[in-house]
Amino acid sequence: MELRPLSTRELVTASELLLRTNHGQSLSALADDLAVSMRNWPSLQIGAFDENGALAGLIAGRIDARDPTIGYSDDIVVMDRFRAHGMGSTLLSRQIEAFGELGCHRVRGLSPSSLYGALPFFERHGFKVIRRFSAQGVWGIADGQEVCVTEKPLVSDESFR
Ligand SMILES: CC(C)(COP(=O)(O)OP(=O)(O)OC[C@H]1O[C@@H](n2cnc3c(N)ncnc32)[C@H](O)[C@@H]1OP(=O)(O)O)[C@@H](O)C(=O)NCCC(=O)NCCS
Repeated sequence: MELRPLSTRELVTASELLLRTNHGQSLSALADDLAVSMRNWPSLQIGAFDENGALAGLIAGRIDARDPTIGYSDDIVVMDRFRAHGMGSTLLSRQIEAFGELGCHRVRGLSPSSLYGALPFFERHGFKVIRRFSAQGVWGIADGQEVCVTEKPLVSDESFR
């Protein structure tokens, strides 16, 4: 498995994977959004590639527009046949490192109830559920769906004293 930032060559394949975790968004809307993230934060959009160099999984993220100390780990998808071999964990660890390098103090995620199956995966990586709300106009999440906000601190409380 090779890990590297996604390039524009992989934009369509990557966006096809994002169709699995985003409700109500078209392939082209997802590709446009990912292209913006790739331009703004290339180190947060990471692909995992198989031995033939084909995209097998990815993770995407961004930094909060108002508070640059908050990072958002938006989407992680590993193709079915590559799951449960540590690829997701490696992608998430690499992205968390990249958030730290960009100066983030915490990383958040939004998990809609349709993807709650992956919550134990995030909890194993140090994320805790800090809030729940009902989605209304959230990108990629159906209105009315319950959403968990998860958070992982990257710096200890002492650093703020
Ligand atoms: C979440 C995901 C990226 C994990 O990728 P992966 O390569 O399988 O991850 P790893 O091999 O590092 O870890 C797998 C572990 O997470 C658990 N897990 C992950 N997703 C799970 C799910 N939906 N339901 C139950 N368990 C899940 C596996 O059981 C496994 O646990 P184990 O280590 O105790 O056996 C992958 O399952 C996936 O693509 N899921 C669909 C998309 C999704 O739900 N993304 C998260 C929200 S954006």
